[in-house]
Amino acid sequence: MKKIIGFMLAFLVITGCQAKDDEAPVLSLSKSRVQIALNESIDYLQYVEKAYDKKDGDLIKQVNYTTIDTSTVGKKTIHYDVKDQAGNQSQTDLIVDVVEYFGDLINPVTAQADIVENPDDVTVLVNKLHEIPEGWKPDDLEKVIDCSQKLRHEANEAYTRFYQAAKVKGIDIYTISGYREPETQELYWNNVVKVSGEEHAIQYNAYPRRSEHELGLCVDVSYTTEGDRLSEKVADSALGKFIESDAYQYGFILRYPKDKVRITGYNYEPWHIRYVGVELATQLHNENKTLEEYYEG
Ligand code: DAL
Ligand code: ZN
Repeated sequence: MKKIIGFMLAFLVITGCQAKDDEAPVLSLSKSRVQIALNESIDYLQYVEKAYDKKDGDLIKQVNYTTIDTSTVGKKTIHYDVKDQAGNQSQTDLIVDVVEYFGDLINPVTAQADIVENPDDVTVLVNKLHEIPEGWKPDDLEKVIDCSQKLRHEANEAYTRFYQAAKVKGIDIYTISGYREPETQELYWNNVVKVSGEEHAIQYNAYPRRSEHELGLCVDVSYTTEGDRLSEKVADSALGKFIESDAYQYGFILRYPKDKVRITGYNYEPWHIRYVGVELATQLHNENKTLEEYYEG
C-alpha cells in the first residue's frame, strides 16, 4: 500500500511540476505575397523567417508546406504549417503570383505619348502612347446596374443590356471596376510600382492619363465575388465565354486579348471590356483586331 501511494505521489510530482505545453510555435514568413516567373522553381523554405517553439527551439526543419504549379500563370497559395512536440500547431499562407514577363513592352514612363484630341468619342484610342488631356473628365457618368461603379451614359446603357442578356442565360456578372479618377489611377500605378516593381506595372497597369478606366468606357468584370476575382479563370468561366462570343453585339470588345500582348502592350485581361459602339465592336470582332490594329494597321 505504501508503495502504491509512493508511486502516485511521484506521478503527481512529475506531471504536476511540468507545466503543460499548450503554446503553439511561432511561424512567420518574410513576405505575405511574392511574384515568380512562369516555370521558375521555388525554394519554399526561403520565405520562412521563423519557426520557433519556446520549448523545442528551432523548428525550421519541421516546417511542412504545400507545393504550387508554376507552369501556369495566376494567383496561387502556399500553405505552411509546423507542429511542436506537444502537438501544438501554427500555420500561415504565402500568396504567389506566377507571372509571365514579356520584357520588351513599351515603358510608359519613358515613352512620349500624344495627347488625344477626341476624349469624348467612344471610339477613342487611349494606350501607352495616347494620353488623355490633363484635366479632362467625362461629364455623363452614372452608376452601373449592380454597384456604385460608374460608366459614361452610352456605355452604361449598353452594359446594362449586356448584363441582363447574361442573366437570361444564367450568367451572373459582378462589376469590379469602372470609371477611375485620374488621381486614383495615379495612386494605383505608384502603388504597383512600389509593391511589385516597374516591370510588373508596365505589363499590368496603365500609367496615369493612359488608362481607359479614366474614359468611363470600360469595365472590369468577374464571375465571382470571392478570392482573386480578376484572374485568367475569368476566361474559362461562362462569363468569359459569353464575352468572347457576344460582347460585341452590345458594343464591347475584349480589349487585351491573350495573343495580342505585344500589340496592346498589356498582359491578357479576360475581364476588361471596352465600349466602342456596336458598329466598331462588330468590325473588330469579325476582323479579330485590337483598337491598335484598327487605327495603326
Ligand atoms: N489594367 C489596365 C491596362 C488599366 O490599368 O487600365
Ligand atoms: Zn480594366
